[in-house]
Amino acid sequence: MKTVVYPGSFDPVTVGHMDLIRRAAGLFDHLVVGVLVNSEKKTPLFSLEERVIMLKDACKNIPNVSIESFNGLLIDFVRAKGADTIIRGLRELMDFEMELQIAQVNRVASGGIETIFLPTDPRYTNVSSSVVREYARYKVALPDFVPENVLKVMIEKGIVESKKQED
Ligand code: PNS
Repeated sequence: MKTVVYPGSFDPVTVGHMDLIRRAAGLFDHLVVGVLVNSEKKTPLFSLEERVIMLKDACKNIPNVSIESFNGLLIDFVRAKGADTIIRGLRELMDFEMELQIAQVNRVASGGIETIFLPTDPRYTNVSSSVVREYARYKVALPDFVPENVLKVMIEKGIVESKKQED
């Protein structure tokens, strides 16, 4: 059975992530979505628990996907899951430059864990968690960028305002 790991911060999970999860789940026996516990680069919009719950909800109809959190090095998490492959999405050239370097280091440091890149569907090239967070700073929702359950949570928590019905 081939298990692969799709790691990320998922703060929050976007429709771009969901497209990748579905496609990767179709290619392998089991996909473990690894949610990074502490992302050093930003103040998270959602706690780890919230990110995991929202991902579980969004993936509930994809049978061979499981959601787990991890701390520390990604390669250690991949090994712990009995996997030897990492999945990452590429939206643009800038992603590739960064991701190539990380994939090369991870492979050498782990003695062989490979990274497979999946190109983002062109519909989601401009979709990112960071844009969702930036708009949320102004209480503005981006309904096309996040799964329905995430939008619902963002509205319920008052992170964004629900769009007023036009009369
Ligand atoms: O969604 P993101 O923030 O682009 O995901 C980045 C992630 C989680 C894949 C990366 O930060 C990561 O692997 N962190 C774990 C620590 C680690 O292994 N670092 C070495 C590779 S940079």
